[in-house]
Amino acid sequence: MNITVAGTGYVGLVTGVCFAEAGYTVTCFDTDTEKINTLSAGISTIYEPGLEEMLVQNMDAKRLRFTVSPAEAYSGADFIFIAVGTPEREDGSANLDFVESVAREIAEHARGKTVVAVKSTVPVGTNRKLAGFFNPRSGISIVSNPEFLREGSGIADTFQAERIVIGTDDKAAGDKLAGIYRRFGVPILRTGLKSAEMIKYASNAFLAAKISLVNEIANFCEVTGADIEEVALGMGMDSRIGSQFLRAGIGYGGSCFPKDTKALVKLGEEWGCDFSILKSVIEVNSRQKQKLVNAAIGIAGSFKGKRAAVLGLSFKPFTDDIREAPALEVIRQLLDEGADISVYDPAAMGKMREIYGDQLYYAETPEEAVKGADFAFVLTEWPEITAFPLEKYRLFMRQPVLLDGRNCYSAEAAEKAGLTYVSIGRKAVLAEAVAAATK
Ligand SMILES: NC(=O)c1ccc[n+]([C@@H]2O[C@H](COP(=O)([O-])OP(=O)(O)OC[C@H]3O[C@@H](n4cnc5c(N)ncnc54)[C@H](O)[C@@H]3O)[C@@H](O)[C@H]2O)c1
Repeated sequence: MNITVAGTGYVGLVTGVCFAEAGYTVTCFDTDTEKINTLSAGISTIYEPGLEEMLVQNMDAKRLRFTVSPAEAYSGADFIFIAVGTPEREDGSANLDFVESVAREIAEHARGKTVVAVKSTVPVGTNRKLAGFFNPRSGISIVSNPEFLREGSGIADTFQAERIVIGTDDKAAGDKLAGIYRRFGVPILRTGLKSAEMIKYASNAFLAAKISLVNEIANFCEVTGADIEEVALGMGMDSRIGSQFLRAGIGYGGSCFPKDTKALVKLGEEWGCDFSILKSVIEVNSRQKQKLVNAAIGIAGSFKGKRAAVLGLSFKPFTDDIREAPALEVIRQLLDEGADISVYDPAAMGKMREIYGDQLYYAETPEEAVKGADFAFVLTEWPEITAFPLEKYRLFMRQPVLLDGRNCYSAEAAEKAGLTYVSIGRKAVLAEAVAAATK
């Protein structure tokens, strides 16, 4: 059984490596020659725990290879998984250029009966449109197979997926795809083509809404004197609500929620449907990302001549992905305010350097980052960062003001350690600071 994966990014690479690990012969194809050269040398191009070891083992076992040749990738494939990006266009809609370009190349090179499974997140109706790229007599069939893995736990999310969605109007193609997933022993949901496309957007919209709602409640806790940690605990004990995704923080980021929520709003507009809840979710999130810098301005008055340390750059722990990360917004605001900035992240420094070059100081440890700083922003709950002792902020910082965007520390312990501590939804100090900043 020959499997090809088009696109070797966060989804495609994990998919390819995991299918090889499951015993299939896998070819990973990408148009980025540098990426393919690096992968062919047995080096993972993304930070994903456990991935590089698995990649090397499967390359050694001759089950996994990489290529930039579409002919080599597509001509002998029984299954082709499309996992290329669908980034946001300026108007918020999903850019389908990469997906369409893959479909065109498959139409040119695929031989025999090939099942094309679309993992990329695409608006309702896209898969049907893609089917139009293939000659009806070619034997190529299309299946929507949206991806739900989370960066940082991509391998476990693949082998122990909560569900595999297979959406198709072609039952035989759906059966074939379900057949190759059988080895994973995970639940498979069969749906129509359009429902599968919608499940992906609806799931991300729901999760983003959960985060924005909790963040709004957290903001209200600050005003009223309630504590979001206690509130979330009480809410989560209700099985209808569930305890996950109730952590208040500086907002969601990453390569999915921000673009998928906007794409759904845009898609709704195209169909004459006003997604007013989703518009608020997006707006709340955008305000949330500015909250801590506003609080710091409320405390300091100005950042001129001040030093800020940013701990945690990736949009969440265990990934080097900084797409739409809150750190990008915080750093942009701090630079606008004229702050000197030092940053630390266990995996994402290289990606941040590609954007900001020498405008930032790249520290090798949290300790080095906070040395001499007036403000420290904690933006990603990496274990290396949450384990950094509160006493060290007081010891190494010029003015120990800690702005904790992930509620990593206990407010009492922070105060006991002699810090001015700002977190989300737990202390009135933030509301006061924001009010002062916006006067
Ligand atoms: N990243 C996630 O956690 C995640 C989770 C679920 C779903 N998704 C969805 O999966 C899709 C891929 O996301 P990603 O984060 O892996 O993207 P990515 O940007 O990390 O990777 C995309 C890859 O596709 C390659 N590419 C572009 N055009 C190509 C072509 N014509 N042929 C072959 N390769 C090509 C790029 O060079 C790049 O390596 C998106 O639609 C995304 O919304 C992502």
